[in-house]
Amino acid sequence: MTRPKVFVTRVIRDAGLTLVREFCNADVWEGDLPPTHDVLLEKVRGMDGLLCLLTDRIDGELLDAAGSQLKVVSNHAVGFDNIVVPDATARGIPVGNTPGILTDATADLAFALLLAAARRITEAERYIHAGKWKTWHPSMLLGIDLAGKTLGLVGFGRIGRAMAKRAVGFDLRVIFYDPTAEPEFNAAPMSSLDALLRESDFVSIHTPLNQATRHIVNADFLSKMKRNAILINTSRGPVVDQDDLYQALKSNQIFAAALDVTDPEPLPLDSPLLTLENCVIVPHIGSASEKTRDDMARLAALNLIAGLKGERLPHCVNPEVYESGR
Ligand code: GLV
Repeated sequence: MTRPKVFVTRVIRDAGLTLVREFCNADVWEGDLPPTHDVLLEKVRGMDGLLCLLTDRIDGELLDAAGSQLKVVSNHAVGFDNIVVPDATARGIPVGNTPGILTDATADLAFALLLAAARRITEAERYIHAGKWKTWHPSMLLGIDLAGKTLGLVGFGRIGRAMAKRAVGFDLRVIFYDPTAEPEFNAAPMSSLDALLRESDFVSIHTPLNQATRHIVNADFLSKMKRNAILINTSRGPVVDQDDLYQALKSNQIFAAALDVTDPEPLPLDSPLLTLENCVIVPHIGSASEKTRDDMARLAALNLIAGLKGERLPHCVNPEVYESGR
């Protein structure tokens, strides 16, 4: 029996790659940087399956370049804004993602960012490296306490809920704005985004990127935050209008921001955000723990293999492909 042919757009963790190699003839892109779109167009030709990363844009042109034998696209991420899903659905191709397994790792990082911004940890580290630490001083590098403050979650899906759990131990009150979610744990729903911004000392973003959420954090949003508030974003970079955020941070309209995601990624070294002391930025490492990346690789492989076998994907973002009878 001929083994299915797949293109894997980067070297993923062995936990997943081994499974892929057991079942398929895999062409694996070994580069540290993603294949360019032109290379991708060439590489997918004739493939039965594609395992891709959030750095690869997958659209109708690419799916057509692959050919009509393509059975599945498996994204090694929970977010899938890099894929034009309606283009895949229109061609009857199921798209897999990796939800659930990166919830705790991402919430851990979001909470670490909250603490880093509130207690000025990265700034304090730079302070030492710059040779500025001369003595202990009562007014040196003062930050913001967490206890008794309000954490506002924009989006109350899996990661938002995991944030709410973590907030308990820090004596935070938790509120959220998400018209589609039920209240849970200690978190109280707010009837509007404005109400959430009015009450929150820390605002953490947990929405997917789509037309409704692109630049949801803009000058208007930032002007409604409390003066000493902190913004945390571990969702997707384009949810934030970075020019507006820069102005708000530069003028101390808000206390600080902490970003795991930027627009674009990587953030160019001449980005004005990198000149600010009150902006913590890390390079999209929300899910970057060994176990989580192993789990993601494994689930991405299982989605891929299920699709190649013509079985339902364990996690499919466009289940309507199974109803269309294509
Ligand atoms: C990471 O950002 C993911 O969507 O998995």
